[in-house]
Amino acid sequence: MIFDRNENKDVIALLGAGSMGTAIVRRIAAGRKILLGDISEKNLEQVSHDLQYSGYDVEICVVNALDKTSVESFAEKAASLGNVKYFIDTAGASPSQASPEHILKLDMVGTGYAVDAFGKMMAARGAGLIISSQTGYMHRLPDEVELEILRTPTDKLMDIAYIKKTAVQSGIAYMIAKRVNHLQAQKAAATTWKERRARINTISPGIIVTPLAYDEFKAAGDNYQVMIDSSAAMRTASSDEIAEAGAFLLGEHAAFITGTDLLIDGGVIASIRTGAYKLH
Ligand SMILES: NC(=O)c1ccc[n+]([C@@H]2O[C@H](COP(=O)([O-])OP(=O)(O)OC[C@H]3O[C@@H](n4cnc5c(N)ncnc54)[C@H](O)[C@@H]3O)[C@@H](O)[C@H]2O)c1
Repeated sequence: MIFDRNENKDVIALLGAGSMGTAIVRRIAAGRKILLGDISEKNLEQVSHDLQYSGYDVEICVVNALDKTSVESFAEKAASLGNVKYFIDTAGASPSQASPEHILKLDMVGTGYAVDAFGKMMAARGAGLIISSQTGYMHRLPDEVELEILRTPTDKLMDIAYIKKTAVQSGIAYMIAKRVNHLQAQKAAATTWKERRARINTISPGIIVTPLAYDEFKAAGDNYQVMIDSSAAMRTASSDEIAEAGAFLLGEHAAFITGTDLLIDGGVIASIRTGAYKLH
């Protein structure tokens, strides 16, 4: 049976078909074509099955965000399906899941590959969203390092002396990578994505209960509980709450918003900045 007779549907490309990415896609998927990309075939099969059985038009593509060529092929595949109006990048690994090097290569360089590749494919009035993290606010980079990052091509980010010297432990590597995501969106918004008349922003979520977060909870002992209890919201959030904001940033009501970050953390960073909670 043909569920939808419309041709030339706008394309949504999702890199990282995990909890948050899938929730965001579901909020904007009606009447559009979805291309799911992930390193895990199991994830792709499960998520595409769920979306298909909810009536959505889905294709899948195995893609490794660590590999520039793989990411470029993914962007080309998206463009071959129609006008790429939406790109969402949620591929990532958290501190308890990976080494500092892996985190930098995936969350920082891999995101750069995707922003660069989709910067050549986005349709006019399209929009992109990178999922960064509240941790992007936890390790302040010196101004001159931020400028250096903004001027450095993706392939050379791992060579930046400050990053090499500082990101020696997974937690710090994650904080730096997630701050770099904000800068990657700023840079793209002002250059490559601007040239295509497309927008790009980041969301920095706080503690969102997903498989990735469960790994963090296991590794962190009481730290997360104290962080949650010290925050204004005094709770964790779900991927659906991030999806609500993601749909807004990707949608037409956000047409004047580009190159910026939206922190959605229930007040964790406010509690750190004011001294109500001390980061360990
Ligand atoms: N859950 C949280 O509390 C939280 C908070 C802040 C930021 N984040 C960030 O949000 C993003 C999404 O995380 P989530 O919580 O939805 O986790 P998730 O584990 O559900 O999703 C991450 C996805 O990335 C995929 N992936 C991993 N390595 C990949 C690779 N090399 N190539 C392609 N895909 C790859 C995984 O297979 C998975 O499907 C991540 O970048 C994470 O760092 C999560």
